[in-house]
Order: sequence, then structure tokens, then C-alpha cells
Amino acid sequence: MSVAVGIGLTNECNLACPHCYRPTLMKQRLSVPEVETILDNLDVGSVNLGVGENGVHPEYREMLALLARRDVKTAITSNGYSLNMLTDEELSAFHSIELSFDFPTKEEMDEFRGKGAWEMAIESLERCQALGVPTSVAAVMMNTNYGRMEEVARFAAGLGCDLRVNVYQPVADEEFTLSYEQFWQGFANLFAAGPVVVCSEPLVNAIMGLETTRGNPCGQRSIRALPAGTITPCPYWPAAAARIPHLADTGQSIWDRPEFEKSRHLPKACEPCRFAESCAGGCASRRALRDRLDEPDEYCPVVRGEDEVRRVQEMLSYTLSNPEDVPKAGNACTTVIKTAGNLPA
Ligand SMILES: C[S@@+](CC[C@H](N)C(=O)[O-])C[C@H]1O[C@@H](n2cnc3c(N)ncnc32)[C@H](O)[C@@H]1O
Repeated sequence: MSVAVGIGLTNECNLACPHCYRPTLMKQRLSVPEVETILDNLDVGSVNLGVGENGVHPEYREMLALLARRDVKTAITSNGYSLNMLTDEELSAFHSIELSFDFPTKEEMDEFRGKGAWEMAIESLERCQALGVPTSVAAVMMNTNYGRMEEVARFAAGLGCDLRVNVYQPVADEEFTLSYEQFWQGFANLFAAGPVVVCSEPLVNAIMGLETTRGNPCGQRSIRALPAGTITPCPYWPAAAARIPHLADTGQSIWDRPEFEKSRHLPKACEPCRFAESCAGGCASRRALRDRLDEPDEYCPVVRGEDEVRRVQEMLSYTLSNPEDVPKAGNACTTVIKTAGNLPA
């Protein structure tokens, strides 16, 4: 089975965004041999570079050249820094590029990410587009922007980009955590903005019967190599499943390691649920981060009763787009909305 591997070459970043999950206590970097070990031992269908700002790694360009030599479809999530430093030829080698925007205006974005963040992202996005590299906008849904999802989508549409949204994960703290109501209202806003290409946020996928994915990507097809040299089922997973050299040890498949098994764990209370197969207990990382792996996802409406399920289902109205070749579609809990060509800017 070919897998989409998330790789973080470094945890370093040129910015210090307040919501970010990257560890900051010490500098962590993957080496070229570690990346080679990943490519040699996993059936890598595609790679997405994330975690820190990958261009800060001193061997970033060598790593890109390695991925290109191995014919790996490579995508990157960036604030622009790792893109601005590349030649046109290097940029054009990306299969797709995602620029992070958390807010639809320059003022809000610069206040959140730091002065100049907006311009850096816009400039590199426009350069990628001029080169014909597929681009999209990535946003994190937080308690500070969940009501602005339509505006963010409109902004992405204005740039000719689809929008990918991830729910804020309380890795470092709870400052931006969505309440139950905000979570569902945020998805209602998002779905109002355009057709859904994919929604692998398991709970939403299941409740809406979207069927664009089945179950939780964690531990099945999502695998991450973090800058600390560790392998985890998800970037937010609180413990390492193994170290990278373990991939070369054929004794035990990485997918059978205890942390991967835990990420597939269905909470006892979810066993009788009619959505158990498609939801698989919701986001396992969210449950693990809160030390509640064996409890239903905190955003689950089923535990609140059938009236609540109906209310949530009625709140959300959506249309489906044809699932396309979005590299990250299957490798994390994510939602992609097709805004390009759908919304007036
Ligand atoms: C960690 S950053 C790394 C790449 C780059 N520095 C950037 O800003 O895109 C990758 C993506 O993760 C998002 N992100 C950061 N912290 C998050 C969190 N706690 N929960 C969900 N997504 C988060 C960022 O907003 C960004 O879109």
C-alpha cells in the first residue's frame, strides 16, 4: 500500500505563530540518511513537508533534490519563506504547494503571525501560480476564526485557490480550542462556502455520511517522520511510535507498533454506534492528547442524543465536488473545499 508520508525536516521556523504545534524547546533536524531510510523502507506515494518551516534546514535543497531523484510527488506547506529561497526550477518540481493563511485580511494575519507574514505568503503564492505549480490555501479552524470560514474561502477563491482546513489541535495549549458549538458552526460556515472535495475529519465525515473517506486516517495510511527522528501516526500524536532506523528493521511492521495500534483504537462507548465504522471514534490524536483515548471524540453529537445528531445534520448543508488528486486528502484529518471558480472574490 503506498502511503502519503508527512515529513518535517526541522522544527525550526522563521515565524513564531501562537497556535503552532511544533516543539520549540530544542532544535531538531532530520539528516539526509534519515530521509533516505524513510524512502528506502516505506512504499512512499507522496511526501508533504511540514512541522517547521522546512527551508530553515541547512540541507533543505539537498533534500528536495533527493526527493526529485527518487521521483517522489512532493508537496509543501509553507508560510512562503521556504519557497522564496528556491529557483524557479526547484519550485516547479513541487507537485503542489500550500500557503498558510489563518485570516482573510493582512492586518489580522500580520498581527497573528508577525509583520510581513501576509506579504511573504502572497508573493510566493503568486510566484508559484505564475510558474504553473498547483497552489492552495491552508487554514486552521480556531475559536478565533471559526465564524470567518466563508470569508477565508472567499479570499482563497480570489487567489484562484482551493481551501484546506484543519481543526486546531491542543498540542501546546488550549488557547485556540474550538468549543463543541464552534466546531460544528465552523463546519457549517465552511460547507456554505463551496463543494467539499474531501473531508477526512472522521466525525464530520461520518455524521454527514460524506463517505469521502472511511475511518480515521491515523494508523492506517497516515504516517509522519518528525524532526526529532521519530515516527508517529499523526503530527499531533503525543508519543513516538518508533525511531526512523526502526523502519529498516523488518522484524515488526511499523503499522503494528503499539502507538499505531492505539491510534486505531475504537473507544468502548463507540462500539454500538451506527457510525462506528466510518467515524472510528473521531480524531484519535485529539483523544490521546487529552489522555481520553477510550472516550468518544469531544465533538461527538451522538453521545448527546438523537435530537442533537439531527440538529447538527440540519445545520450543515453541503455539496460534493469530485474527489481529485489532492496529495494530503488521505493522510490527515482535513477538509478541502473547492472554492476556485465557485465564489465571487
Ligand atoms: C506547522 S505549519 C509548518 C509549515 C509553515 N511554517 C506554515 O506556517 O505553513 C503547517 C500547518 O500547520 C498548521 N498548524 C499549526 N499549529 C496547528 C495546530 N495546533 N493545530 C492544527 N494546525 C496547526 C499551520 O497553521 C500550518 O498551516
